[in-house]
Amino acid sequence: MFELSQFRRQFPVVGLALALQLPFMAVNAFAQDAVVQIGLAAPMTGAYAGYGKDTANSAQLAIDEANARKLVIGGKPIKLQLVSVDDQGDPRIAVQVAQQLVDNRVVAVIGHFNSGTTIPASQIYGKAGIPMITPAATNPAITQGGLSTVYRVMATDTQNSGTAGKYAATVVKAKRIAILDDRTAFGAGEADEFEKAVRSHGSTIVSREYTSDKAVDFSAQLTKIKSQDVDLLFFGGLDTQAGMVVKRMRQLGMKATFLAGGGVADANFIKIAGDASEGSLAWDYGLPLESLPNGKTFAVKYKKTYGIDLLPYGPFGYDAANVLVKAIESANSTNPADINAAIKKIQITGITGPIAFFPNGDLKSASSTLYEVKGGQWVVVTTGDPGV
Ligand code: ALA
Repeated sequence: MFELSQFRRQFPVVGLALALQLPFMAVNAFAQDAVVQIGLAAPMTGAYAGYGKDTANSAQLAIDEANARKLVIGGKPIKLQLVSVDDQGDPRIAVQVAQQLVDNRVVAVIGHFNSGTTIPASQIYGKAGIPMITPAATNPAITQGGLSTVYRVMATDTQNSGTAGKYAATVVKAKRIAILDDRTAFGAGEADEFEKAVRSHGSTIVSREYTSDKAVDFSAQLTKIKSQDVDLLFFGGLDTQAGMVVKRMRQLGMKATFLAGGGVADANFIKIAGDASEGSLAWDYGLPLESLPNGKTFAVKYKKTYGIDLLPYGPFGYDAANVLVKAIESANSTNPADINAAIKKIQITGITGPIAFFPNGDLKSASSTLYEVKGGQWVVVTTGDPGV
């Protein structure tokens, strides 16, 4: 995988000149094939660096498999190159790196990871006519802005947290519910979707509290929530903080059910919360990897290639890359407009499930799964709609 800073070091002037003269293709100085660059933007440093790298590693596997097939597009041999950039999970940096990818003439982008970075960055790609497929960002607004270049290969937070809200009200039958969210586009979006669903199913939100995505102490909010005698607490945010929240809840003697939306049902949450994780619930994205026909094979290949375990977003990064490969092949073009038109017609079976998009760029068949921590492990409770 190539990092943009590396490209600048190796081709300081040539890269720019080629980018200006040869739209959408650069020539690899070491090979005959034209190099076609696909951008990947995610946090490669900071708290969620592991997820960014996991997504990039997984996308790289798809790119390597495509290159091994020796692609010929428009009658010319091409080599795909993944150019990864670090948006640090920060909306301001995301806009800058998005512009760099556009300026460097990538033909499409996989990313971003966080909803808060994806929303502003998608505008930059949209203006440049460059298709963007997010493998991780789930705020429903991402695909509601009228951009014809935006796609997502996972369920939205209406599907994840909305289902969680319905479940809390109708299956858990929680009557007094509290919400705590991290005030990011993701966490707040999840909390909004959860709240709407809870209300429409007749339960009451007795408390809505806020934190930030950098916080490590939730005592003030949880003490207040405890005094309101709630049956269930929903947390809108990612796994690390979710683990800290449930740990603190139990330390404070709170017995309320802990429920989260996407991005929580992973090993990191259990590691952080320890025994306090027991009984926690999360409506997370997609189907369990082991239930997918090629899921296990992919996890094994990933471990063999990188020597580390696959994390939850990797399979979506792999599928996003394969959508782009397939679109380039079916368009028989590396022009972003042609790739974009081809993505709209794509129908493939990814490792995460069938992939085809609605006109707004959302998946036609997205799924989410309810997990519960039992015996120190996430186990599947049910998949899809709770059916109530
Ligand atoms: N699903 C998370 C987000 O949207 C990663 O930010």
